Amino acid sequence: MIKTVEWTDEGVRVIDQRKLPHEEVYLLLRTPEEVAEAIRAMIVRGAPAIGVTAAFGLALGVKRSSALTVEELETEFEAFCQLMARARPTAVNLFWAIERMRRAWAEARRRNLPLPLLKEWVIQEARNIYREDIETNWRMAHHGATLIPDPARILTHCNTGALATAGGMGTALGVVRAAVLMGKRVHVYVDETRPFLQGARLTAWELLKERIPATLITDNMAGYMMYRGLVDCVLVGADRIAANGDVANKIGTYTLAILAKEHGIPFYVVAPISTLDLSIASGEHIPIEERPAIEVTHINGRPIAPEGIAVANPAFDITPHRYVTAIVTERGIARPPYPESLSALAAQPDVAQAPAAERALSGDAPPSGSS
Ligand code: MRU
Repeated sequence: MIKTVEWTDEGVRVIDQRKLPHEEVYLLLRTPEEVAEAIRAMIVRGAPAIGVTAAFGLALGVKRSSALTVEELETEFEAFCQLMARARPTAVNLFWAIERMRRAWAEARRRNLPLPLLKEWVIQEARNIYREDIETNWRMAHHGATLIPDPARILTHCNTGALATAGGMGTALGVVRAAVLMGKRVHVYVDETRPFLQGARLTAWELLKERIPATLITDNMAGYMMYRGLVDCVLVGADRIAANGDVANKIGTYTLAILAKEHGIPFYVVAPISTLDLSIASGEHIPIEERPAIEVTHINGRPIAPEGIAVANPAFDITPHRYVTAIVTERGIARPPYPESLSALAAQPDVAQAPAAERALSGDAPPSGSS
C-alpha cells in the first residue's frame, strides 16, 4: 500500500509528492509549522490527504508542547489550528479536520482530563481521522465501482489516488481500483493536469505500479478522445462540494464536464462526506486558491515562457451541478436534485465508525470514530 502520510514516534512521515515519479523520498515533519508548510508547498496534496496531515500536525504540536498547564496548551493548540487553516483555502477537508480536532479538544476539556491524558486524547483523534479516511475510501470505491461498465474506458483528472488521501484506495482512482478488483476490464485515460502535472506524475505512477492499463494524454486531448468515442465515463474527485451540488476541483474539471455533457458521457464525482460543505449554497461562494506564477511559467524548474509575462494560476474551478451525473460518497450515491440527496446523505450516521466494543474505551482516549 502506498503510504502517503503516517504518524510515527518521531513525527509525521510523508512521501514528497513534488519528487514523484522519479524519486520516492520520504520526509519527516517534526513541527506543526513544518506540516503547514508541507501542505502549502504541495509536498502533501489532495483534499483528504491535506485533512489527515493537518490533524497529525495539530497532534504533533500538542505532543511536542512543553506547556505546563492545560490552559497554556489550549492557547498553543488554537494557534496551531489557525496556522493549519492558513495553509490552503479550497479543500474543505482541511477545515473539517481542524474542526474535528477542536471538538476532540473540547470533549477532553469537558472531561477534565489531566495534561498527559488530554494530549493522548487529541493524538488519538488524529489517528481516528487517518484510519477512517482509509476505510471511507474503500466504501466509496465499492459504491462507485457499481457505476462502471465492463469493459470501460475511464477519463480521470488530477490525482485522486492513494496519494490524494491517507493512502490505500483513493477517491476517484479508488473506484477504478475497485472495478479492477471486481474483474472489470478498465482502461484509464490520464489527463496530465497542467500546471502541477498531478496526472502525468502521480496518477500515471500509481496506475503503472499496479499494472492498471492507462494512457497519458495532455489536457487539451480530452475533447478529441470523447469525439472519437474512446471515453465511457469521467471520474474526478472534489475539493469542496456546495449544498446545491456545485463542485470545486482541480482546474480543468469544468472543461471536462462540459465536454462530457456534449458527448453524452456520464460525469461522476467521487468524494467523502468530509468534502461536502453544506454551509455554502452554491459554488460561487467557494474560495479558489491562486497559486504562484512559477508553476505556470516553469516545468521542473526550467522556464518555458518569456520572463515578464503576466500569469493567472487558479488552482481549482467550479463545475456547476447540472453537469454532474452523480456524486459517489462512502454513504451511497447522490443524484440530482442534489440539495435533497446530499443533505440526506449528510444526515446519515457515520459508517466509518468503529464497532461499539472498540469504541468503549476507558476514557483515556477519544472513542475512535467520533465525529
Ligand atoms: O492542488 P491539489 O493537487 O491538492 O488538488 C487536488 C485535487 O484537485 C483533487 O482532484 C481533489 O483533492 C480530490 S481527490 C482526493
